[in-house]
Amino acid sequence: MDKIKITGGIPLKGKIEIGGAKNSALPLMAASLLMEGSVTLSNLPHLSDIATMANLLVHHGVCLNINACSDYKPGHDGRVITFSAKNIKDLTAPYEIVRKMRASALVLGPLLARFGTARVSLPGGCAIGTRPIDLHLSALEKMGAEITLDTGYVQASAKGGLKGAVIEFPKVTVGGTENLLMAATLAKGTTVMKNAAMEPEISDLANCLVKMGAKIEGIGTRTLTIEGVKNLHSVNYAVIPDRIEAGTYAMAAAITGGDVELLGAKREIMGATIDVLRQSGVEITETKNGIRVKRTGGLSSVNVETEAYPGFATDMQAQLVALMCVAKGTSHIAENIFENRFMHIPELMRMGADIKINGHTAVVKGVDHLSGASLMATDLRASVSLVIAALAARGSSIINRVYHLDRGYERLEEKLRGCGAIIERVNKE
Ligand code: EPZ
Repeated sequence: MDKIKITGGIPLKGKIEIGGAKNSALPLMAASLLMEGSVTLSNLPHLSDIATMANLLVHHGVCLNINACSDYKPGHDGRVITFSAKNIKDLTAPYEIVRKMRASALVLGPLLARFGTARVSLPGGCAIGTRPIDLHLSALEKMGAEITLDTGYVQASAKGGLKGAVIEFPKVTVGGTENLLMAATLAKGTTVMKNAAMEPEISDLANCLVKMGAKIEGIGTRTLTIEGVKNLHSVNYAVIPDRIEAGTYAMAAAITGGDVELLGAKREIMGATIDVLRQSGVEITETKNGIRVKRTGGLSSVNVETEAYPGFATDMQAQLVALMCVAKGTSHIAENIFENRFMHIPELMRMGADIKINGHTAVVKGVDHLSGASLMATDLRASVSLVIAALAARGSSIINRVYHLDRGYERLEEKLRGCGAIIERVNKE
């Protein structure tokens, strides 16, 4: 199995291209199921999660044209794929695919809205928590869907089609908002979603749906109003840059005392990440082509809690914990979104970090330095936090289970090596 070897201690210097957002691309791909026309997506990242969603769509009967044409010239090699869901032959999302990636549940809303029936495996728990989809299901029920659970599958049907409804989510859910947004575009009448997620990936999906002919108001706010339409039409759409990939490389530049320009990164969609980095003593400036991240002085501790956007993202928590391991003072980092998202902490402690977990808060006391070690993590962001720590550690580290990184970071070693890091993929046992 592949491993990544990193020899730490080198300040990162140079430029890193930021790819298209994984968490935008996944719902945008699912949106192709809404119509017979085709969705051509450009700036798609080359990641294993994207391949998993593509496999699921192919299973349903979607035809893919890889390297289709697009006018989009982002300055890097994001892929262009056309998804044509004209001949859907299977309305079941099977366990074998859904268990690999929870975002597979995003096919439920579009399939149900277009065909009046769908069967989707329940995703089950995962490394960061129980992660149910009950809020997706109860909202679809409000729109008239009949939902039963049988042998691990959600069987949903809406014989006369979905109907507009007023839905107030008791808790902000990114996937729930996306599923309902897609379903509501083809429902009869008007749907109002209150306490909707307002992550930039939601706005990206909504903007694409509008380009497909959907009628959506309130994009970028907590209340989305969708007036159902009969049909949607073909679209050509570019995925937004990945704010979590950009934030991750910003943390990597910061921990090494580096100076890196993140090409294509957009400050305005990065939420609280920029403020937190600045608070910790990192210089962030906007450039013509993205964002420059530079650290010359020491790092200061911060107190942060994860929240729905525009608050500090749970997907940046592990990386921030790694950064704070070598900051001056004690940081308190609370995880409010997922109940089990501290799996990186025991590994960071093996590198010499001083961290205590107090309920859902990590209390991180900065140490002089971290030391290289053999490391392993159980999810994508936890794995990359170990990469960040290893880049600053004294000596060499081996990161095991690289497949987690390949789900969300395209050409990670190449991008870091381009800034001077000593990092290589090794595939011996
Ligand atoms: C999305 O997951 C992202 N995934 C996650 O990114 C991200 O961490 C998360 O949003 C929060 O920002 C994608 O976009 C593909 P939620 P999602 O529904 O949609 C609870 C990464 O590393 N909940 O907003 O699954 C849930 O358990 C990944 O790239 C319910 O209780 O997240 C969690 O505690 C990991 N019932 C909270 O709400 C529901 O029906 C937020 O989950 C739905 C969610």
